[in-house]
Amino acid sequence: MSESSPPRTAPARTPLADAPQGGALLRSLTGLLARWLPGQRWFAGKGRPMGGLTLVAATELLPCTAQGTTPGLLHLLIRTRAEEGDPAQAPPSVDCYQVLLGVRPALPPALGPALVGRPTEGPLRGRAVYEALHDPRLAGLLLERLRTPGRIGALRFTPAPGASVPAGLPPRVLTGEQSNSSVVYGDAHILKLFRRVSPGVNPDLELPLALAEAGSDRVPAPAAWFEAHVQEPPPDGDRSPAERAPEPLTLGVLTPFLGGSVDGWQLALQSLGHRTDFTSASHSLGRATAEVHTALAGALPTDVLRRPQLEQTANGMVERLTEATAAVPALRPYGSGLRRAYEALGAFARRGGTCPVQRLHGDLHLGQVLLTPDPRGRGSHWSVIDFEGEPARPLTDRRRPGPPVRDVAGMLRSFDYAACQHRTGGPWVEEWSRANRAAYCRGYAEASGNDPLAQRELLLAYETDKAVYEVLYEARHRPAWLHVPMAAIRRLAQGAD
Ligand SMILES: Nc1ncnc2c1ncn2[C@@H]1O[C@H](COP(=O)(O)OP(=O)(O)O)[C@@H](O)[C@H]1O
Ligand SMILES: [Mg+2]
Repeated sequence: MSESSPPRTAPARTPLADAPQGGALLRSLTGLLARWLPGQRWFAGKGRPMGGLTLVAATELLPCTAQGTTPGLLHLLIRTRAEEGDPAQAPPSVDCYQVLLGVRPALPPALGPALVGRPTEGPLRGRAVYEALHDPRLAGLLLERLRTPGRIGALRFTPAPGASVPAGLPPRVLTGEQSNSSVVYGDAHILKLFRRVSPGVNPDLELPLALAEAGSDRVPAPAAWFEAHVQEPPPDGDRSPAERAPEPLTLGVLTPFLGGSVDGWQLALQSLGHRTDFTSASHSLGRATAEVHTALAGALPTDVLRRPQLEQTANGMVERLTEATAAVPALRPYGSGLRRAYEALGAFARRGGTCPVQRLHGDLHLGQVLLTPDPRGRGSHWSVIDFEGEPARPLTDRRRPGPPVRDVAGMLRSFDYAACQHRTGGPWVEEWSRANRAAYCRGYAEASGNDPLAQRELLLAYETDKAVYEVLYEARHRPAWLHVPMAAIRRLAQGAD
């Protein structure tokens, strides 16, 4: 993919990263970053003390030690290690983060909130080090780099062939609850910077590229991306060292910005608030999901799960239920009822049932779909975004083919979430959820020829597995929301649909 465009820029020297300066640089930043990283929304190691920081790569995109008012721009890949406790309780976790730092002798007041700190030693001593994305000059420079194919230090920038990205678009950083960081350029493009990065292509680049090449209009086609080529990539979850060829790490993807679009979650809440119909939108969302699945199955490898793999899948679900029940006692009364869904999947496998698998979205819900008004006045159009999968899972796992009903189950849970968190509750809201779930499945069946409701054992098992995951997540992170998945748990444990 990235090999298709030869670098035009010669590899640039990155003096700060060169030994022995690299060590000095890290020394000057370690303390600051160790304090700053755990406070970031996208930092995954919350709650565990940081054991150490290592520099994987440092690239000066603009010189950082120059005098004058021109800011420096430093791109870092940092490996963090959580402090080791009892290895039997929690294995040491090593993560790699992407950080973009601006460097100035003095910080203008507007950039005050972006300050990371002022190093007291090393080559950046006394300078203001801050989050570069908030500096329009530096965010603008990143766009400029993405418009031009080439390498600088460890980084390689690749504009998509034929894509046109205008110069000089004004940047603004998105402030939502994100697990990554995004910058919108002039409402024309959006750059998503992955924060926790692993070796191997990120599915949020891989799948939209494959879909765009297949001619799908359900995804904004990547216009440019950048990646890092490092000598010693950080480990990725379950890979053995032998499998760890130095694959590039995907760092960011620029895509067209869908102006005027609203995400499905907001639309669903509006419908619930105003008591307006949502079923025709859900029906077309089912069609859109099916179109994405059909295009992915045509573009990327597929397989079929047979008895051993299906039994393994069911066993994995039982294990997750056992773990969740140990952590959340509220699940206990429903254990045997929930296990029936997994037993039914095992029985389906023993009867000779099989299941086609393919590349999936992996984390499909109403917040991952955008409805854009059609400029030709022919209604509106659903697009699907954020193909990264569940960020907490290792990349190899997220890139594994799975049954399409897994995505369908995710979206069905999302309808239920929207309805359950709606304050008024009551029969109308329950009917809203039932009707929209049905409309979504109908749309999916019409466009794909595969009715998810006809794959009852799989759908019920995946929906149950998802609801169990949600219980664990809410119990740990948002106890006030626990009642939402618990309502589904009660329904699923009774075997009701
Ligand atoms: N192409 C796009 N056009 C318009 N808005 C977008 C686009 N891509 C992302 N967004 C907005 O940015 C938000 C976060 O994007 P997403 O890719 O889902 O990031 P994250 O992985 O952090 O969830 C979305 O919910 C949406 O509001
Ligand atoms: Mg998202």
